[in-house]
Amino acid sequence: MKKFTRTLTCILALSTITTVAIADEDAELVINGDLNISTKAAAPADSALDELISGWRFRTNETQALQMDDFDNPSFIFIEQGEDLYAKVDGSEGKSCASCHEDVASFEGLKSTLPRHNATTGKLDTMETLVNDCRTERMGAEPWKWSKGKMTAMTSLISLQSRGMPINVKTDGEAAGAYDLGKELYYTRVGQLDMSCANCHEDNYGNMIRADHLSQGQINGFPTYRLKNAKMNSIHARFKGCMKNIRATPFKEGSDEFRALELYVASRGNGLSVESPSVRN
Ligand code: HEC
Ligand code: HEC
Repeated sequence: MKKFTRTLTCILALSTITTVAIADEDAELVINGDLNISTKAAAPADSALDELISGWRFRTNETQALQMDDFDNPSFIFIEQGEDLYAKVDGSEGKSCASCHEDVASFEGLKSTLPRHNATTGKLDTMETLVNDCRTERMGAEPWKWSKGKMTAMTSLISLQSRGMPINVKTDGEAAGAYDLGKELYYTRVGQLDMSCANCHEDNYGNMIRADHLSQGQINGFPTYRLKNAKMNSIHARFKGCMKNIRATPFKEGSDEFRALELYVASRGNGLSVESPSVRN
């Protein structure tokens, strides 16, 4: 196992020398010419990071540019689908989201506080569970799949309402247990490559891994449009992809493990601005 890690360290070291300056880490994110988004934030006192940096900073100039104008940002095609779904009647009760939540803007501020502990279920609520609870409990409609198009269109639309607001998830009190689990998962080495999330996103951010510029693995920009698969991607789908890359068996989307990991990773970005919907490679 040691050998794999050493090999990877070599790859990382090598490519740092050969491929520099593909991203503009000093660029500032201004959307539509007037919405200033802070892509850096001071790290909280107990943080493992020196400073918090959004994944946007690590992308190439071209990818960065796509997020600087909503006309260029492909996410907005999906946001429009979300708007249609929002107004669409579905399920046995004959209701749409808009029947009860008249204006989607009323969800302003929600994204920055998720996931959060639900006292009734004793589990963490995420944007996906909140949407599906309304579908199944209040509309008599089928739940949407965690990372499929309808769900990510809706979570993108709702998350957009909080764009620019600082992430502020609660990690103490009732949420403490999930936070501890998430932290443990973040630092546990898994898979054939025997690596943890921290090995890449804490120890090596700023370095190159093959052709990719490693970021801190922040989730302030999710759901994110990826050029790689040309669709909106959920947080859990990204976690799954990273676990597969290190040849580990991923947890299931929506599992308690991924919800806990989501809380922990979100908390590592407490203070960074919500950037949803972001664009990544
Ligand atoms: C029959 C009325 C009704 C319908 C239809 C409905 N909701 Fe809700 N929704 C509620 C109520 C009541 C709550 C809990 C109180 C609140 O936060 O507004 C809620 C809560 C939520 C929350 C959590 C809000 C928060 O701040 O905690 C989200 C997100 C949400 N709904 C999204 C949706 C979406 C998306 C749809 C359509 C797919 C939908 N709802 C359909 C009544 C409804
Ligand atoms: C072998 C290195 C490696 C490991 C280990 C790894 N990742 Fe990643 N991850 C990447 C790469 C490469 C990317 C794409 C470039 C970037 O944003 O860092 C990425 C991207 C991400 C992103 C998207 C960031 C953004 O701004 O869109 C998140 C979130 C993430 N990883 C979380 C995790 C979590 C959680 C774990 C542990 C379960 C993990 N990663 C393990 C390499 C890794």
